[in-house]
Amino acid sequence: MSTIILNGSPKGKKGNSEIFIQQFLKGMTSPCIVKYISKENPELLARYTQTFDTIIFVLPLYIHSMPGVMMRFIECLEPALASESKSIGFIVQCGFTESSQCKYVERYFCSLAEELNRNYLGCVVKGGAAATYMMPRVMTLGLFKSLQKLGKIYERTHSFDKQIIRKLEKPYELTGFTLKYLQFVIQIGADKIGWDKFLRDNGVLNKKLDRPFI
Ligand SMILES: Cc1cc2nc3c(=O)[nH]c(=O)nc-3n(C[C@H](O)[C@H](O)[C@H](O)COP(=O)(O)O)c2cc1C
Repeated sequence: MSTIILNGSPKGKKGNSEIFIQQFLKGMTSPCIVKYISKENPELLARYTQTFDTIIFVLPLYIHSMPGVMMRFIECLEPALASESKSIGFIVQCGFTESSQCKYVERYFCSLAEELNRNYLGCVVKGGAAATYMMPRVMTLGLFKSLQKLGKIYERTHSFDKQIIRKLEKPYELTGFTLKYLQFVIQIGADKIGWDKFLRDNGVLNKKLDRPFI
């Protein structure tokens, strides 16, 4: 069974999706082809991708959906033949803590699998991942272990382990004390301290309310 992993982030090798891919691959014993959608001609890549039994997309959530480069690529994919028994799976990581944010794109991926005539392996979702690239090693240990295990089990069973999916998607929605605590943090404006530092460091703090796309 041949597998291709597609990185759907416009940041390619410099993004968090790449870290997820490398950890997934670490769990596997044989190497796997990885391609970067943002770096390729979408039609040529789609043709190449069709030659693999399984496609695994690893992508960031952008505005509750997928990045534009990935959407453009998906439109170039053709359905597999019914006789081919091909599969497709998705690993989505996003900035906000609640993985429930990915529910819309998850539903889309499920119907996309049907449209492309491919068996749906599922959608692995991890929230709170925006800072993965700068987190100290000790804070990513659990996540990396789960991703490696996901890769290991995928290689052996050709499926995404349901238990790991359930573990990674926590919290699905914030409730109780955590929710109340974060509401308080927002109320006093403490949530802006970190974001404002990024803006200040880049000299754009005075532009933070700009709306360039309107
Ligand atoms: C344009 C843009 C839109 C984003 N939209 C969302 C979003 O709707 N929900 C969310 O949780 N995170 C959102 N994020 C955060 C990314 O999902 C997160 O930073 C992710 O780790 C980036 O992965 P990458 O480095 O592979 O691109 C957005 C980031 C960008 C740059």
